[in-house]
Amino acid sequence: MFDFTPDPDASKADLYRELLGAADALTAGESDGVANMANVAALLGDFLPDCNWTGFYRMVEGELVLGPFAGRPACIRIPLGVGVCGAAAKSGETQLVEDVHAFPGHIACDARSRSELVVPIVRDGAVVGVIDLDSPDLGRFDADDQAGIEALAALLSDRM
Ligand code: SME
Repeated sequence: MFDFTPDPDASKADLYRELLGAADALTAGESDGVANMANVAALLGDFLPDCNWTGFYRMVEGELVLGPFAGRPACIRIPLGVGVCGAAAKSGETQLVEDVHAFPGHIACDARSRSELVVPIVRDGAVVGVIDLDSPDLGRFDADDQAGIEALAALLSDRM
């Protein structure tokens, strides 16, 4: 049994330190990318408060395809450059969106989502997928979340 219970009183920095340690422990030495993404999606859902969707899209033949996640069923395929995920995948840059309704082309997979953080996962200079976090709260994500999820994306780039 794995027990990676987040400390409810932890600071954001400590929370991300714990999350990265847990993700490292769960994925180190495991070659199956789906298993690794599934466990990390579950960890994200458990560790990060006020999120309604946490998970992965993978780059498959030039478009993003839904990967493992925690949350409600979501859009399956997203073209490059479309929506928040497509923008992150096309540019290779993190998209931190305080209000998804103000983001041109935002794709509403879950009508509850109000803010979003999408971090590209880069391997050998190419985007191989994204980590996507959605929250029902406006402005839920900040620079600390961005730094924490970017560190997670770097950890997972050759484990998915
Ligand atoms: N909102 C995303 C689509 C994916 S869902 O949030 C799970 C976007 O605009 O790309």
